[in-house]
Amino acid sequence: MIEKLKDMFKRVYDAEVEKVFFAPGRVNLIGEHTDYNGGNVFPCALTFGTYALIKVRTDKKIRFYSENFEALGIIEVNIDEIEYDCKHDWANYPKGVIWAFENKGMKIDSGFDILFYGNIPNGAGLSSSASIEVVTGVVLRDLYNFPINMVDIAERSQEAENQFIGVNCGIMDQFAIAMGKKDCAILLDTNTLKYEYASIKLNGASIVIANTNKRRGLADSKYNERRTECETALVNLQTVLKINSLCELNEEEFEENRHLIKDEVCAKRAKHAIYENQRTLKAVKALENSDIELFGKLMNKSHISLRDDYEVTGIELDTLVEIAWKRPGVIGSRMTGAGFGGCTVSIVKDEFVDDFIKNVGVEYKSKIGYAAVFYVAQIGDGARKIY
Ligand code: GLA
Repeated sequence: MIEKLKDMFKRVYDAEVEKVFFAPGRVNLIGEHTDYNGGNVFPCALTFGTYALIKVRTDKKIRFYSENFEALGIIEVNIDEIEYDCKHDWANYPKGVIWAFENKGMKIDSGFDILFYGNIPNGAGLSSSASIEVVTGVVLRDLYNFPINMVDIAERSQEAENQFIGVNCGIMDQFAIAMGKKDCAILLDTNTLKYEYASIKLNGASIVIANTNKRRGLADSKYNERRTECETALVNLQTVLKINSLCELNEEEFEENRHLIKDEVCAKRAKHAIYENQRTLKAVKALENSDIELFGKLMNKSHISLRDDYEVTGIELDTLVEIAWKRPGVIGSRMTGAGFGGCTVSIVKDEFVDDFIKNVGVEYKSKIGYAAVFYVAQIGDGARKIY
């Protein structure tokens, strides 16, 4: 793979590659739409992701090229002019990270040529944008010797997404991609950024990701709408309770105070966030106790809550999950990521994985009219320099 990319670099820039970096995609096992409500998430890094190949320059130019957006060619900027430009399309992501670094006093004084190639299915909700952001952060740290750690890189990448791109996401994706560890998921408390690794031992079962192939379309505006609804619920609760985020409450505390939330829709959103946070903690305990069945049941409940209370699923995700629930050997199945399209994540007993892929695939296609794509997920390490 890397050899092919090096040839590509030579073709595009007529120069030899000096350094190579990689950042994975991510899948979230449980803990959805909790990361901007001060809750816990439980994602892991994948083995597919984004490669970045570099040659440093002595002048002030940065040239970007992505093999995934070949038609857009080389995009050139001057390091003193890092501003959002819709003509620069995908290149606004790495530009945003440079901008976020500069905002924190990490100025760069010479440029580089960079080639990206990603094998994360596009628009699948497996965080291709966070992956390109985090790999850019690792590149900048290496090229300019910035004294920062991987959590800092995750935070700068999130700032790029929030303030430069304008998507008000939480920290989960960038954190999972920066801090991922082979064969482990990360229990991250998004309120404190305390985290621990949990080794994923599924006792003869695998994680299967299924892409609905429904593009996320309206997702970003709906995403911001959900955030606002949660904020409204929080403000209502704060008229009586001393809390800074929804997930400080447990289920009982929520039920006792639910009446404070004036709007029923906002109450449902808050309910999801609070119950999902507790489910995440229970799921991690279940895994520690090797109770995979319970882990699976909590995944299923997570999906139902995302469907009925948070309302971020849609016909494609619901169909894929509901077909999966009926197949033999399926321990749990739910949507993963922001929702409205993208992927589901399922835990399937190894001996049923082939049956799952075949039969869920056939039924999905007959109901939805186009095919889903399946991946048996390998959990990989976080972002890194390859050489
Ligand atoms: C997207 C966001 C994350 C998180 C999830 C939902 O992936 O980027 O921060 O909010 O949606 O859990």
